[in-house]
Amino acid sequence: MESAATYHAMRAALDWQIELGADEALSETSINRFELVDKPKAKPAKAATPAPSEPVEIPKVDAVAVAKAAAGGATSLEALHAALAAFEHCELKRGARNMVFGGGAAQSRVMIIGEAPGREEDREGKPFVGRSGQLLDKMLAAIGLSREESVYLSNVLPWRPPQNREAKPEEIAMMRPFVARHVELVAPELIILMGNMSCEAALAKRGITRLRGTWAEAYGLPAIPMFTPEYLLRQPAMKREAWADLLEIKARLS
Ligand code: URA
Repeated sequence: MESAATYHAMRAALDWQIELGADEALSETSINRFELVDKPKAKPAKAATPAPSEPVEIPKVDAVAVAKAAAGGATSLEALHAALAAFEHCELKRGARNMVFGGGAAQSRVMIIGEAPGREEDREGKPFVGRSGQLLDKMLAAIGLSREESVYLSNVLPWRPPQNREAKPEEIAMMRPFVARHVELVAPELIILMGNMSCEAALAKRGITRLRGTWAEAYGLPAIPMFTPEYLLRQPAMKREAWADLLEIKARLS
């Protein structure tokens, strides 16, 4: 039992609350709000940290397979040109000014496959121009050939590598289907493989000094490795060997 004093004290507190406007009981049990004031507030729940996302697996493109399909579907030199221009898997394309596809007489008995465009070729978009192109024209003229009438020219790489660096094996591998189709469409009687890169792409061999002058088979045709005209400009003493190779080609054609 509450004492009378307690009763009167509680009754006074209730009256005071009613006077303040608290005229409705909201809960069956009383809440001591003074106690609640000092209680540390519950921290707001942290926003859920998203779970680290799984690494996205980017499917690897088989650039050689893409090249084979693109080149194989080309039924003319124009179509092959378009297929090569649309090929996006060779990084060299991004650094080159122009694509150097090929040039010369399309219906030729002789096809020259060089290494890659240099500075001049990259600028003009044509194979073998500038000083090395002039030397090549003289060499061909010496055995009665010319790019206007009887020789078609192309390269393993259609885009100039930065600082004329060596081609990477994967670059050669992805360009090879285009070169092979190029040969099929030109359908020459024989091929001149100019430089190491060209021998590597066609014969899987390097060492032009040893390989030059000896007939081999490339892309299903007789092929003879030769020094590039740039090399002959740097090493004029080697022109003697180049002359011997030219005579060999002349003999084969007649
Ligand atoms: N050397 C090459 O092998 N190709 C060119 O187009 C020019 C120079």
